Amino acid sequence: MNVEHLIREIAERFEQSNLSYGHGTDNPLDEAAWLVFSTLQLSYKDVQAAYATKVYDEQESAVSALASRRINERVPVAYLLKQAFFAGHEFYVDDRVLVPRSPFAELIDLQFSPWLIAGNVNAVVDLGTGSGCIAIAIAYVFPNARVDAVDISPEALQVAAINIDQHDLADRIELIQSDFFIGLDEGRQYDLIVSNPPYVNQDDIDTMPSEYRHEPKLGLEAGGDGLESIHKILQDASRFLTDNGILVCEVGNSQQALEVAYPDLAFVWLEFSAGGAGVFLLTKYDLEGL
Ligand SMILES: C[S@@+](CC[C@H](N)C(=O)[O-])C[C@H]1O[C@@H](n2cnc3c(N)ncnc32)[C@H](O)[C@@H]1O
Repeated sequence: MNVEHLIREIAERFEQSNLSYGHGTDNPLDEAAWLVFSTLQLSYKDVQAAYATKVYDEQESAVSALASRRINERVPVAYLLKQAFFAGHEFYVDDRVLVPRSPFAELIDLQFSPWLIAGNVNAVVDLGTGSGCIAIAIAYVFPNARVDAVDISPEALQVAAINIDQHDLADRIELIQSDFFIGLDEGRQYDLIVSNPPYVNQDDIDTMPSEYRHEPKLGLEAGGDGLESIHKILQDASRFLTDNGILVCEVGNSQQALEVAYPDLAFVWLEFSAGGAGVFLLTKYDLEGL
């Protein structure tokens, strides 16, 4: 048995098990390859050489046991491996945090151009930081910026701390336990406020695939219409923005409900070449009237 055979065998088991994807991959073959490569600690640098590598019995058993948990318990691979990738970086994850998957990665790669001038970005806050993935990826693309990473969940902040430490960014990222803006000093001013808050409405919570039930409810649930967190963020954001500052927030499927709730707000809905939607941008000026 070599790595390629093992990947195909696991992919076949996934294929027959009617799994739901969306925590890092979108198909059985990629999901199987991730599981095998990580469990066997193979490098992606020379994939052909990795495919031809011999697999020992105990390695096969280890992969097979994880695949069984993926199938029988519907545990996302990210939690099985304690690993996720976002914006080209690797992160530690476990079930204290959501698995990173936000379209924010594309905006970060582009340094939020044309909305911001990278050299002018000195202060950023990430509301609902979870694993810290957005805050950390932002710290990489704005090397002069200080980043506040806020979460209400002490457990999530523990995971964010692991990642900040692993990325050696403790000197520029401050972890803050707070209910969005409530615990932040009133004087703080940000050039960029980002948030991927909980925004799943009750209908979607009731019908979501089992994989998502392994994630912390606090990261997903946002009341009947999915807007509970977003109302809070919109209410307070303008006070914390610099004059040229922007708020960029993901609301996913709750986009329509949000537009109905705020018919006079000039939401700019951002477009993504890599797929994804439901992310809006507002300026301090847009938000001031609220
Ligand atoms: C959708 S998850 C996003 C996590 C991470 N930013 C990401 O993109 O993977 C939302 C996060 O918001 C946090 N959260 C929920 N309610 C909050 C609140 N009132 N104040 C601050 N954070 C909150 C949750 O604990 C969770 O970590």
